[in-house]
Amino acid sequence: MILKLLKDVTRESHLALERQMPLLDAELRLDTYRHMVQKLFTYHKPLEATLLASSGYAELGVAYTERAKTARLAHDLSALGLSTRDIEQLRVCKSLPPLADPSHIFGCLYVLEGATLGGQIVNRHLQASLGLTADSGASYFSGYGVDTGPRWKAFCAILTAYAERTDDQNDIVAGANATYATLSAWMRAGDGERAHAPGAQTSTQPALA
Ligand code: HEM
Repeated sequence: MILKLLKDVTRESHLALERQMPLLDAELRLDTYRHMVQKLFTYHKPLEATLLASSGYAELGVAYTERAKTARLAHDLSALGLSTRDIEQLRVCKSLPPLADPSHIFGCLYVLEGATLGGQIVNRHLQASLGLTADSGASYFSGYGVDTGPRWKAFCAILTAYAERTDDQNDIVAGANATYATLSAWMRAGDGERAHAPGAQTSTQPALA
C-alpha cells in the first residue's frame, strides 16, 4: 500500500530527476558523468551524516551504515581523477529533507534506496558508453550488484511493516517528496549558488569550502 502510494506520488519527480541527469544519453561524456557524481556526493554526504546522527534513525530497524552511499561516491570521484583533498573540499548541500523522525527518514530512504534499481540500467550504460566498472568510477550506480533486488525487497518489507504499524503515511510521503525536491534543487543549482527547495531544513554540517 505505502509502496504503491510512494511510487504514484513521486512518479513525476522521478521523471524530472531523470531529465536533469541525462545519464542514458548515447553521447554521455565523462566530464558530464563526473559532474553528476560530484553533485550526488555533495548531496549524500551531509544527508547521510545527519541521518545517521538523528534520534529517529535508531527506531528504523534498517542497518543503513551497510547501505550508505557517501563512501562509494567518494571512491567514484577518486577513480574519476579527483584528489582526496579536492573531494574533502567540495561544497556540500545545505538544504536537506527533514530527518528528525522515523517517518520522514523512511520516506527519504525510499528515494535513496530506490536509486539502486534505476542504477542497474545506468550502470550497464556507463559500462557500454564510457567503459566504467564499479572499480573505475561506477560503484554508486552498480548498487549492490546481484543483491540489488533482494536488498530492495528487504528494505520495502521493513518500510511496509513500519507504515502498517504507525499508519503515518503522510509524513513518509512528505519525506520522499522533500528528498526529491532538495536533490532536484541541488542538481539545478550552479556550483556558486545555494539550493533551496520547499519542505527543506538547513543542515548543521559545517561548510567545507
Ligand atoms: C538518470 C538516472 C536514473 C534512471 C535512468 C532511473 C531509472 C529508474 C528505473 C527504470 C526504475 C524502475 C526499476 C525497476 O522497477 O526495477 C527506477 C526506480 C526508482 N528510482 Fe530511478 N533512475 C535514475 C535515477 C534515480 C535517482 C538519482 C533516484 C533518487 C536519488 C532514483 C530513485 C528511484 C526510486 C525511488 C525508484 C523506485 C520506484 C518504485 O518502484 O517505487 N532514481 N529508476
